[in-house]
Amino acid sequence: MIKTKTKYEGDDNKVIVTAALPYANGNIHIGHLLEYIQADVYTRFLKLIGREAYYICASDMHGTPIEVNAAKEGVKPEVFVEKFWSEHQKDFATFLIKFDNYYKTHSSENRLLAEFFFSELKKKDLIYTKKIKVMFCVSCARYLPDRFVKGVCPNCKAEEQYGDICEKCNAVLKAFDLINSFCVICKNKPEQRDSLHYFFKLSQFVDKLQAWMLSEKEMQQEMKNWLQGWIDKGLDDWCISRDAPYFGFEIPGSLQETGQVKYFYVWLDAPIGYISSTQNLMNRMSKRWEDYWHKGRVQHFIGKDISYFHFLFWPAILMAMEIPLPKLMVHGFITVNGQKMSKSRGTYFTAKDFAALYPVEGLRFYYASHLDRKLVDVDLSLEEFKAVNNNVLMGSLGNFCYRVLTFAEKNYGCVDKIADEKNLNREILELVKEIEGDYLAMDFKSVVKGILTIADIGNAYFQRSEVWKCKDSNDAKAKVGWCVNLARNLAILASPILPEFSRKVREVLGEKKWGGIDVGFGWKGELGKVELLVEKVELKNEIVRFPLHMVIGEVKEVEDHPNADSLYLMKVDFGVEKGLKQVVAGLKKFFRLEELVGKRAVFCVNMKPAKLRGEVSEAMIMVADDGEKLGLLQVSSREAGEEVLFEGMVFGGGEIGYEDFKKLKMEVKGKNVVFEGRTLSYGKAAIVVEGVKEGARIA
Ligand code: MSP
Ligand code: ZN
Repeated sequence: MIKTKTKYEGDDNKVIVTAALPYANGNIHIGHLLEYIQADVYTRFLKLIGREAYYICASDMHGTPIEVNAAKEGVKPEVFVEKFWSEHQKDFATFLIKFDNYYKTHSSENRLLAEFFFSELKKKDLIYTKKIKVMFCVSCARYLPDRFVKGVCPNCKAEEQYGDICEKCNAVLKAFDLINSFCVICKNKPEQRDSLHYFFKLSQFVDKLQAWMLSEKEMQQEMKNWLQGWIDKGLDDWCISRDAPYFGFEIPGSLQETGQVKYFYVWLDAPIGYISSTQNLMNRMSKRWEDYWHKGRVQHFIGKDISYFHFLFWPAILMAMEIPLPKLMVHGFITVNGQKMSKSRGTYFTAKDFAALYPVEGLRFYYASHLDRKLVDVDLSLEEFKAVNNNVLMGSLGNFCYRVLTFAEKNYGCVDKIADEKNLNREILELVKEIEGDYLAMDFKSVVKGILTIADIGNAYFQRSEVWKCKDSNDAKAKVGWCVNLARNLAILASPILPEFSRKVREVLGEKKWGGIDVGFGWKGELGKVELLVEKVELKNEIVRFPLHMVIGEVKEVEDHPNADSLYLMKVDFGVEKGLKQVVAGLKKFFRLEELVGKRAVFCVNMKPAKLRGEVSEAMIMVADDGEKLGLLQVSSREAGEEVLFEGMVFGGGEIGYEDFKKLKMEVKGKNVVFEGRTLSYGKAAIVVEGVKEGARIA
């Protein structure tokens, strides 16, 4: 069977794969994961077939929102972004996303490269300065990007619209066109000011971009259409500088040239981050990034929202720098149950939330089975997710491998005979060829289809062989031997999508590593114990709201309350997003100071702030009280700032007073905390309380 769709064209052995650099300004959510999984599957496949491929990424650390959020928390932006940098890496690892380098844009390599690019572009006369109007908030003493100004849309009169686009009528706006504009930080009216800025001559690249588009055989048709539309509309030169305060790299010479210190706009140095992250890796390996960017294949994966930057600005800059242009694969957006993710509908899942509820390989498989080369949004319908995981991944692929391997292990302990199924083998090896082509074309939907077709052949074969009726015959043994080989082939083929599943199968066979699509029907050897290969999805369907916002806090400091004998004053760390809070707690009779320092426990963080003997308490420590003793709700292995929930419940509601808190009947049952039959837990790990009697109440 010959397919006619676009296939991978180059045969480059050196490949740099990138995913967009996520902002170090919030948690990774399931929308992001689509892209990081997509690029991970691709890179894992390239490695499997022996290409020299590297998966490169970084946190994008610059820009106004990061600077503003860091200031809100009272930490330096450098500190703020580092926390997200490590958070991001944990989340990616949870989803088995394996980067060869996960670096940062706030790095010395990136600074040097950005400066180098800037000075080269300047030398080529592609940069000039121009006076423009910008918004300035006097009370915040800062220039405001369009997204930091709101007001009434001059076009449709809709209120509370941002200064870049009206969400009601889609009009493209300039912040100073807004009526009754205000600064989103302090709500005061901003004023207009003149400021001298740097511009890149994008307009000079129209013909080159046009020619690139026409010559690019691999470019998705949707992107060609968009790009043509932008080109037809005409390209303006691009402003690449920003005013202070800003978190970014200072532009060398800007003070002399413009009279003020200017910074590179985040979107100038962010894509350069692709290169500097490569450089950082290559340096450690005593290699040169140029050998990859100039001679290899660079494959970017991005979401549709950032295509303007990757199809216009970035290629134009690379052209100017005489660096060959990367290939681009653009994906659509994730919706959940058909709608934009939303916190209030309970369809906004951070990576952590999702991993606590559902199997991560289930999500990898679901995303892979929805990703082809088309630029369409992908709906994560939870019902469909359950069906795909339980009926397809588990019911077809997982079932075949599990049944066959356990049968073979229990009855024979090894494979030493293999049935010679010439016709089936030929059919399967043809499917394997197609699957390889589909992987290279990044058409993972077809990959999954192909794998499932093979699994179906296997399931049907095993079923009709009825080997369980005459286990000890040579014929049965040989048929099972063939099935084990097929399970091995399937695990190899699925390994880029399901690395853990494949590892488990590989370990049953006692093999160390799979190099290449080493499929065939000649494997013989001992068999080990078989672990469960696929986890079932149980939908946490109805979302029940619970009025307490419970979060893990780490006690940093404890001292005696100055005016109360029974109270302690504690400084508690609630992690990246919530920071340090002061907590007043009546624990003195029960715990010594030193016993508390360093403890991680559960706190309620949505109590109405209260003053206790003159000291503000911004959160409340939750303890179990049996009338004699108190027990802390302990969570030693968890991170400060992580949310704690009763199973199947989410936090919903605003502040709560102590009276209402007392009405909630939470008690200790078998060392756990239970409310209406639900156990207090972080994901699957229940919270443990020691040293109090059964039935102790949480207070
Ligand atoms: N920092 C920029 C990228 C700089 S690349 C030089 C950025 N960061 S982001 O964190 O907002 O997004 C990172 C990637 O995640 C983008 O490719 C974006 O399209 C993708 N997604 C973010 N939300 C998404 C969904 N809901 N669905 C699918 N992809 C989404 O943009
Ligand atoms: Zn302001």
